[in-house]
Amino acid sequence: MSIVSGTQTDHRLGFADQTEEVRVDALPLSGTVPEWLRGGLVRVTPAQMDFAERSVSHWFDGMAMLNRFGFAGDGSVSYASRFLDTDARRAALASGGKSINGFATDPCRSLFQRVQSLFSPELTDNANVNLARLGDEYIAMTETPIPVRFDAETLETLGHDKGAAGFGQITTAHPHHDPERGELVNFAAHLGAKSEYRVYARRSSTEARTLATMAVREPSYMHSFAITPRFALLIENPLVVNPLRLAVGGKAFIKNYKWKPELGVRIHAFDRETGAHHRTWTADPFFVFHTINAFEDGEEVVLDLCAHEDASIIELLELERLRSGSGHSTLGARPLRLTLGAGSGVAVARELADVDLELPRIAYRTRNGLPYRYVYGGSAGDAAFLKRLVKIDVEDGSFAVWEEPNAWAGEPIFVPRPGGVAEDDGVVLSVVLDADAGSSFLLMLDAASFEEIARAEAPHHVPFGFHGQFFSA
Ligand code: CO
Repeated sequence: MSIVSGTQTDHRLGFADQTEEVRVDALPLSGTVPEWLRGGLVRVTPAQMDFAERSVSHWFDGMAMLNRFGFAGDGSVSYASRFLDTDARRAALASGGKSINGFATDPCRSLFQRVQSLFSPELTDNANVNLARLGDEYIAMTETPIPVRFDAETLETLGHDKGAAGFGQITTAHPHHDPERGELVNFAAHLGAKSEYRVYARRSSTEARTLATMAVREPSYMHSFAITPRFALLIENPLVVNPLRLAVGGKAFIKNYKWKPELGVRIHAFDRETGAHHRTWTADPFFVFHTINAFEDGEEVVLDLCAHEDASIIELLELERLRSGSGHSTLGARPLRLTLGAGSGVAVARELADVDLELPRIAYRTRNGLPYRYVYGGSAGDAAFLKRLVKIDVEDGSFAVWEEPNAWAGEPIFVPRPGGVAEDDGVVLSVVLDADAGSSFLLMLDAASFEEIARAEAPHHVPFGFHGQFFSA
């Protein structure tokens, strides 16, 4: 076991633990923060990988910490970091890490415990993937149906959100917001003697309904999905599981799944109004974590996503590998456009731009499910990890790049300027690891020009994470 001390001077610092919980009223700042920017950028990140007895074996299993960059509208930027106070972290601290049974960290359990878990599967509440607003509440999510509620100002943990627990044992941390109905739309895999996919919608932590279901023999691992005004689109990776294997336990979650490229990728469209299965298309095999967007074009459906060659990306993200620096540029995915025709069950694929892209974000509030022009994301290029930021014009494939030496940028989040009309009228926020300085800063780019307008220096390094959201004041 190699414990990273946090003294690395390259991207590996992003995989070192950060256990400081701090609050700073005003960060050192350069440039000018727009006064219309009011609220908080809250991100969640795996921040504690090392425990007294062992470390987690996969980056996805680090314990969730919230980081908040606050904007009061007076040009200053505040900062706070705080762990989610979850059952998973409490047990990990108490057991020296032996209790951890996550995405790809094997449980240290006796046979007796394994038999027990057959009847009451242990679902982790280590909600380190993404955040959302649900009704009046804020939730942190992983891929189990027990999100954790938190206070978006103080970052205090407020308990579990159990309102989705009935839909299945596995869900996504990428629900879609339906502005018409004020709901979060998500999908879950219900595993059992008869397994099924369930698309569901929630208005609050106590109001939920099923939109569509589909029987499935070997459920696919799906990290995200897409919606258009009419459809919910499930994208089945050819990474599938025999549900019995998950029930028996003993192995970490994802290790029960098998890569079966012969299945190809299957895209199922469900009518969101009636729940009817509309159509299924197939595509040559690839592996997708993140959809970019989808929209209807007459009778056709257009679906954009970040396609990895295969599921080996999951092994590339094992912690030992990342910390040893032996990863490489295949971390990036290709931005792919699939055209799903009305007269054919075969998806037509083409690349949107000649650049790798992951952690994609769009002008979500005004463009999700609709025709759009810009996607922002992280890109590795020739670097050892995601490093630079790109803005792709999906209409012509051109792209702009932001990068600096030994600076490693995280997911870029677009925040629209109130009253703005142009799709890229606003700012892009990204937490960047400055490996030379040994700390991170919040980068603010003008979304239209993709040039820096300000940066605020955090008091420590913020470990690399997955997703965050801007919550308006
Ligand atoms: Co994700």
